[in-house]
Amino acid sequence: MHKILTHVRLVGLPGSLRKASFSRGTLLGLRNRLPDKVSLDILDPQLPLYNEDQDRPDGPEEIHRFRQAIQDSDGLIIATPEYNHGIPGVLKNALDWASRPYGKSCLINKPALVISVSPAFTGGARVHGQVNETLLSIPAQVVGGPQVVIGGIESKTSDGVLVDQASLNFALAALRQMVTSFRLNSRLFA
Ligand code: FNR
Repeated sequence: MHKILTHVRLVGLPGSLRKASFSRGTLLGLRNRLPDKVSLDILDPQLPLYNEDQDRPDGPEEIHRFRQAIQDSDGLIIATPEYNHGIPGVLKNALDWASRPYGKSCLINKPALVISVSPAFTGGARVHGQVNETLLSIPAQVVGGPQVVIGGIESKTSDGVLVDQASLNFALAALRQMVTSFRLNSRLFA
């Protein structure tokens, strides 16, 4: 069944807590370029460390809100650095919270696009495999196609926001692919 929506509500998850995070700045830049009827709320990845003892219906309120925001969205955009060639702990922690309760995760079948950024030329490319593996274990619906890898991010931002048109166009093409593949409403991206 095609899911035709008049408004596509996306949530963004940065893989960094840094105030001037380029990952967050990438989501801000994308948000500036979205069509009118597509919204992007940026989530705060600052969550307590996952503890199964606390993962209960009366557990932390911020976890409930975090899960609900993903649940209510039509798709997730993750923008993240790689740390030591891998997934930053803060992102893995957030995804671990989002992955539960087992079998009822807010991420099950949720379209998810992964963007990596780095000041380095390599653009954090090595994190994709690890984030995708985690998403597929849930399973979220990982957006295929060319990986969105943004290298040299420092020179592509202004006031902390991604402004490089080539990078934005590339990421927007992947976003369009997400909306089209998962039939959210491709007409909004015409
Ligand atoms: C990094 N950085 C980094 N960069 C990279 O391209 N490959 C890597 O493996 C790593 N490893 C790494 C480990 C740790 C612990 C830190 C703190 C940093 C650099 C990283 O890409 C850079 O700091 C980014 O700016 C971090 O992303 P935000 O905070 O700007 O979103």
